[in-house]
Amino acid sequence: MSERVKFATKLGVIATTVGSAVGLGNIWRFPYEAGMNGGGAFLLIYILCVLILGIPVMCAEFVIGRRSKSDTVDAFRKLAPGSRWHYIGYIGVLASVLILGYYMVISGWTLEYLFRALCNDLTGKTAAEFKAEQNAFIQSDFRPLLWIFLFLIINYLILAKGVQKGIEKMSNILMPLLFVILIVFCIRSLTLPKAGEGLSFFFHPDFSKITPQVIVRAMGQAFFSLSLGMGVLITYSSYFSTKTHLIKTAGTVALLDTTVSVLSGVIIFPAVFSYGLDPVAGPDLVFVTLPNVFNQMPVSALWSSLFFLLLTVAALTSTVSLFEVAIAFFINHMHVSRKKATWTMILIIAILSTICSLSIGAWEHIRLFGKTIFDACDYFSAIILLPLGGLLISIFIGWVLKRNISREELTNRDKLHEPLFNAIFFSIKYIAPVIIIFIFLSGFGII
Ligand code: PHE
Repeated sequence: MSERVKFATKLGVIATTVGSAVGLGNIWRFPYEAGMNGGGAFLLIYILCVLILGIPVMCAEFVIGRRSKSDTVDAFRKLAPGSRWHYIGYIGVLASVLILGYYMVISGWTLEYLFRALCNDLTGKTAAEFKAEQNAFIQSDFRPLLWIFLFLIINYLILAKGVQKGIEKMSNILMPLLFVILIVFCIRSLTLPKAGEGLSFFFHPDFSKITPQVIVRAMGQAFFSLSLGMGVLITYSSYFSTKTHLIKTAGTVALLDTTVSVLSGVIIFPAVFSYGLDPVAGPDLVFVTLPNVFNQMPVSALWSSLFFLLLTVAALTSTVSLFEVAIAFFINHMHVSRKKATWTMILIIAILSTICSLSIGAWEHIRLFGKTIFDACDYFSAIILLPLGGLLISIFIGWVLKRNISREELTNRDKLHEPLFNAIFFSIKYIAPVIIIFIFLSGFGII
């Protein structure tokens, strides 16, 4: 059997994994979820979900991926031959396709806004004009598709180059860039006149807004933001070397990802308050409210271009990781070349994201469980499939796979002194499954 490809460097391991985690979930979704659902109270529950559920489940995925060195379906086949556990892998491939379907649409929007910012077309408008333009754009038939296809081509160019020369190289360049832009924005935002008001809105805990449904959303957000529960991290960790320190990597990724989410709030809310706009704008916060904020700043085209570049970069490193789940699976199971597998996936996603995009406009009347196809893909994959995948993965590691295998992987065969092993294993085996089940049952009103 040929040797599995590996990420070449330690930086590559962190850059690719953080690249997958940091995405639209942090910059687009997290601030509006927190803004609508209790500010600091949401943040607190979110951080608890990351610590108690996120880090253990991430370690569990790392054990499965690095031990098996396989795609997400074969990983379970190798570790539990003759069982049905590999169905978890199929759930992962399905989730990656569904998420890509709508994620690609929003990624396309980021390109449109980047383009308009660069052309200085986001200036001199009123709040109502921003809103009307956004609506007209996302509901139109063709223009969003153009950007989706362009984004798909960029994905193809990176993915076809392979794991080291494509994914790793891109992440090594783009992730440092992303952090630099974030820091520049933090400085800009914190020096605005009403920064304090924005921060107190973001951090002030309003526990009256916390309902069981909000807790389900916070948990879904944690799984989504950390790219958990669907095999991205199983696939990526199959490219880790035997020397990678898995628990430390999980801690670093969780810390950096949460930092980006918090910084996004720290950037967005002071700006929104300083220009007297509505902080509870929901999904419109980034595409309507923020352009309006930049519009009122000096050198507005520079700020809006930088911001939408940040969003595009964040989206790109995440879509690449979502694609890699299915591509690694195709290469292994259909015995096709990397290029062919990549093309096939790009075509499937082109079709699905076209449907998702049209479901906001011309096909808005088509409803699944009362939601548009776009919203249904989002809700079903992010809020349901990912925590469900995380639940099954933790049961698999805690109860099916021999404890010794987890121990060998998480301590690099006892080469590392790892005092946290027992605590992490305990969380994977007992705490994560019980809490995920409890949150689901209470969120859906069953208990
Ligand atoms: N974590 C990414 C984000 O926050 C989205 C993602 C989810 C990527 C699941 C891969 C897997 O935007």
